[in-house]
Amino acid sequence: MNEIKIFSPATVANVACGFDVLGFCLDTIGDEMVIRKTTEKGIKITKIIGANLPFETDKNVASVSALALYNDANPDCGFEIEIYKNIKPGSGIGSSSASAAGSVFAINELLGRPYNETQLTNFAMKGEAIASGCEHADNIAPALFGGFTLVKSTSPLQVLQLPTPEDLFVTIIHPQIEVKTSEARAILPKQIPLQNAITQWSNVGSLVHALHTNDYNLLSQSLNDVVVEPYRSQLIPHFNSVKTEVIKAGALGAGISGSGPSIFALSKSKNTAENVAKAMTTIYAKTDINFITYVSKINTEGMKILS
Ligand code: HSE
Repeated sequence: MNEIKIFSPATVANVACGFDVLGFCLDTIGDEMVIRKTTEKGIKITKIIGANLPFETDKNVASVSALALYNDANPDCGFEIEIYKNIKPGSGIGSSSASAAGSVFAINELLGRPYNETQLTNFAMKGEAIASGCEHADNIAPALFGGFTLVKSTSPLQVLQLPTPEDLFVTIIHPQIEVKTSEARAILPKQIPLQNAITQWSNVGSLVHALHTNDYNLLSQSLNDVVVEPYRSQLIPHFNSVKTEVIKAGALGAGISGSGPSIFALSKSKNTAENVAKAMTTIYAKTDINFITYVSKINTEGMKILS
């Protein structure tokens, strides 16, 4: 195989209470990438459609992660990368991770799969780091493993795959304003009160338990973030109204998707998830902010090979 076309999915990181550790993978929303072997050695980005991103190998997250793998594998060929972006950079649904994880997944396939998902996550984190200023894996891991993941540690990297309840759907609203991950991280306090830490780790633990036991009620009670959301929600217009209205529309819970500005809500059926999208739309339609909504099943597969 000399060429591969893949679907690289969008992802929701944090999942309310799990800052930097929890994430899940979306089904129909994502980028496409074409990667082909070249006789010339090295990594080259040859095409970027849909976003204004750098072509330089040391500046684009897709090529930085690809290079990390390439330098380790030392193959006797090179690779060129075409990126078709559907996920807007700065949207909060894992745009940089889709690029960083997509390139390493595709090259690994072309090389005959010498690396496992954990190793690919490690390479992709090198690309993610240039977008967000630090190496975190809570978007990359669900993009590569699929479903829900928990990053137990980044050094050494340990990713746990969590079960996905069958009827779970996600609704996302992406207000078309940009929130840079690096800035959304910079506003967070370095220390938190003990009582908030207790609330947060009880929510993370119960959310993981809820996923294992298909307990939608417990899942609903666990989707609560007292550590990060109070700070970041100020960057997202109408966040509190969206949260209130989606619960009224039947959602199990809602929160900031990654570092924002997208807001996600989880629901127990597609029908409820669509009603939640209508509730979100009603709020943003009254503003002068453009927005997009998405409804998706949780994607338990992760990356998809298109051809
Ligand atoms: N966990 C990260 C954050 C995800 O919230 O900053 C965004 O890339």
